[in-house]
Parts: sequence; structure tokens; C-alpha cells
Amino acid sequence: VVSDPRSDAVWRYRHALTADDADRHPCYRELCRRLGESEVAADLLASVPVEHRNPMLVLAALHYSALGGDDRLAGLYADLGSGTQDPVRFATAVVAVVEADPTVVSSQLHRTTQTNEIGRSAILQPVLRELRARGLEHIDVVDVGASAGLNLYVDHYRVVESPGADDTALVSESLGELPTGPMPLIGARTGIDLNPLDLRQEDDARWLRACLWPEDARRMRRLELIERASAGWEPLRMLKGGVLERLGDALEGATTEQPSVLWHTWAAAYFPPEVQREFGDRMRTIVRSGRVAWVSVEWPVMVPEMGLPEPGGEPPREGSCQIAVAMPGAAPEHWGWSQHHGRWVSLSPPGPKA
Ligand SMILES: C[S@@+](CC[C@H](N)C(=O)[O-])C[C@H]1O[C@@H](n2cnc3c(N)ncnc32)[C@H](O)[C@@H]1O
Repeated sequence: VVSDPRSDAVWRYRHALTADDADRHPCYRELCRRLGESEVAADLLASVPVEHRNPMLVLAALHYSALGGDDRLAGLYADLGSGTQDPVRFATAVVAVVEADPTVVSSQLHRTTQTNEIGRSAILQPVLRELRARGLEHIDVVDVGASAGLNLYVDHYRVVESPGADDTALVSESLGELPTGPMPLIGARTGIDLNPLDLRQEDDARWLRACLWPEDARRMRRLELIERASAGWEPLRMLKGGVLERLGDALEGATTEQPSVLWHTWAAAYFPPEVQREFGDRMRTIVRSGRVAWVSVEWPVMVPEMGLPEPGGEPPREGSCQIAVAMPGAAPEHWGWSQHHGRWVSLSPPGPKA
């Protein structure tokens, strides 16, 4: 148990990346290590309320300044995607900037981590295919903690097992068999977020990009391509506000007779404990009414108050999100696991298929 905010911040920098992510992002791995050794950086993260005290916020703040042309950082970040930067040189130089001028980070700490990870649509797709096989053919969808709402376009993305020429495709490995039937037809697409990001606004688009990890050049490129394409896709209904305030509005005005599907991916992790508890209770009541199916994709240790089902076994790999689903009228059940950005998915829904 970590007692004071400073030690908590240091612990968080040290555990910011999974082993797998650290291997693929050596500059970010080194940067987290060096930030964890810096008293200035520890104090910056410690100043953030505990539910938002995520080292990714500091990484995003620095990346945001670099994208904005800060002349101390822009050059250091410019070629991170090429894999040629020396991690120690990069991290040392960035931490020196933070220590000389902490405002480069503190000026962005009013924000929150708002990564809109499109890769998570590769987790939602097989779940939705399974829901369709179980009778949900035409649905409205709600994404809680939707950020810019890009996962509300879940049915627009192609999922492939390994990267190819198409940079917009989501790369995801299936561990075991996944449902391959059709997706449901999607009617209304509604997102709830404390701060919905609007990609037509330059600052929102820059923050969204800043939340991505610049060493992952393909992910950066994919966001850019999808941002452009999505301007011509179906309109989204984005509701600004906390989940408890906007849940009722989001579920109103159904465009189909069938139950809606509500999901959240790496969002409940950011709700304070009392919000997790109340949201979980309200969802169980709403689902019992038969009007809604509920899909949760969250890292179990981060959502202890939600009352989600016990997985009843170990995840297939480290750093896994649990996929839990409540069919309309039923209790939530464990359906499987996924890598937190959707790089692999393992699904074994219980019970008979329709
Ligand atoms: C890490 S992002 C994940 C975004 C998206 N679900 C994804 O998977 O890419 C978490 C999002 O949840 C939103 N959020 C956090 N607490 C919230 C709350 N109490 N009510 C509504 N949205 C919230 C944040 O603003 C942020 O956009």
C-alpha cells in the first residue's frame, strides 16, 4: 500500500508500462524510468487527484507541447516513430526540460488521459457478432467515456491478424476462435464523456494525438487516416457530462425495438470508487429491465467497485482487460480477455447460442 502522493506517483511511473509495452516503446520506457527518479516529475504527478494520477497524463502533456512546436521538445519527439532515437539521450533531455520548466507539464494537468484507442474496436467487434448471433440484429449503441467517439464507428474498421498495406486496419490476434458472423446493424450512436473531444477543433485533435505513444508510428498514422475518413461517416450524438448524470439521456429515444448495447472500454477505471459502485448498480437494474445489453472492457484491478463477475481463471497473457457482458435481463458474466489496446482477443462466452 502506497501512503503519500509522492511515493504513489513514483510507484506509478515505475509501473506505467506493461513488460510488453516497454519492449515495444524503449524511449517511453526510459522516459518513465527517468521521470520516476525525478523529484520535480514526482511532485507534478502527485499533484493530480488520485483517480486521474496516471503517468500517461504527464507523457501526453509533454507530447502535446512537442506537437505544438515547443522548441525544446519538438526536435526530440520529431523522429520518435523512426525507431532511431537513443532512449537514454531522449529521456535525459526531456527530463531536463521538465526540471528546468515544470510548467511545460503543469499547464496541461487540468486535462485527463483521453486516448481514443480505435484498436479496442477489435475487441468490440467479436462481442457484437456474438450478440447478433444471440438475436440482437439491429441495435443502438452507447459508449461511456467515448473520448472522440471513434469506437462508435466499430463497424467501419477492418481487423487483420498482421499489418499489411492498409494502415487503417486494426491489427489483432485471435487467441482461440472468435465469432465470424455478421455484425448487428447499428442505428443511433451515442457517446457520453466528461469532455467529449471534437476532432474539428484543433486543440481537441492535438490532445487526442498527444495521448498516443509517438514511437508507435502506425498507430499515429492510423489515427490521422481515420480522423479524416470519419468526417464523412454517420453523425454521432455526443453527450457532455458525468456518466451518472447522462446515462438516462443516452438511453432515451431508441431508434429500434431491440435492446441497445452499452459499452465502456478503459473508462470506468477513471471513475471514482463511489461512481463505479453507483454505475454498476444502475447498470444491473437497467439490464434487468431487458432494454439494454452491457459490455465492460476494463482492467479488473482498476474497477474493484463495479461488482463485475470473477473471471474464474488467469488471463492468457499479462496486462489483460476483462471482457464482461450482461445479456438483456441477465447478470453480467465473464466472456474473455483482451490486450488493453486490442492487440489480441480471447473470447469464450458461456451459455448456449441462439
Ligand atoms: C482513457 S479514455 C478511454 C476512451 C475510450 N473509451 C477508448 O477506449 O479509447 C477515458 C475517457 O473516459 C472519460 N471519463 C472519465 N471519467 C468519466 C465520467 N465520470 N463520466 C464520463 N466520462 C468519463 C474521460 O474523459 C476519457 O475521455
